[in-house]
Amino acid sequence: MELGFGSGRNIEFYPDDVDEVLALEPSALGRRMARTRIAAATVPVVFVGNDARTIPLDDGSCDAALTTFTLCSIDDVARALAEVRRVLRPGGALHFLEHGLSPDETVARWQHRLDPLEGRLADGCHLTRDPVALVRDARFDLEWVEQRYVRGPRPWTYFTIGRVTAPIG
Ligand SMILES: C[S@@+](CC[C@H](N)C(=O)[O-])C[C@H]1O[C@@H](n2cnc3c(N)ncnc32)[C@H](O)[C@@H]1O
Repeated sequence: MELGFGSGRNIEFYPDDVDEVLALEPSALGRRMARTRIAAATVPVVFVGNDARTIPLDDGSCDAALTTFTLCSIDDVARALAEVRRVLRPGGALHFLEHGLSPDETVARWQHRLDPLEGRLADGCHLTRDPVALVRDARFDLEWVEQRYVRGPRPWTYFTIGRVTAPIG
């Protein structure tokens, strides 16, 4: 399952052993832009819903989940992550790549200053969310995480890539 599927930019990175992708995306424009990529993909992609806060899938019905640059913009992200945990099978992984709150005080101060403007200009995006804290608070088990700046202005470029799993038992 991929939440915040957008225009399908992750399709080319799906590993070969993915049988099918269940996609969630609220933007009609995003879904329309994804059509060409979906048509060219070797993996079938099925849109199952719009909103990650209410995922129309059974408990434990997904092997794995993916999200990129989406935890920053979901309103009530805690609820969305609780839903992701619910639909993942026990031990199933959530793979994520997100920008977020910098550990550097000066950068973080700018992020807090810019956050309201960012929200208005970038469709509800937040600069001040901490992806690791979010997945921890959602009671996922942290498997692996890497954090660093990538190229570009620092308030937008402190990236976190990681994998967490839904608890077993
Ligand atoms: C910055 S875009 C990232 C799109 C794509 N994941 C990528 O990396 O190119 C954020 C995406 O999250 C989606 N989104 C926002 N709120 C959402 C929600 N409640 N449930 C699922 N997706 C949501 C937006 O429509 C948008 O497509």
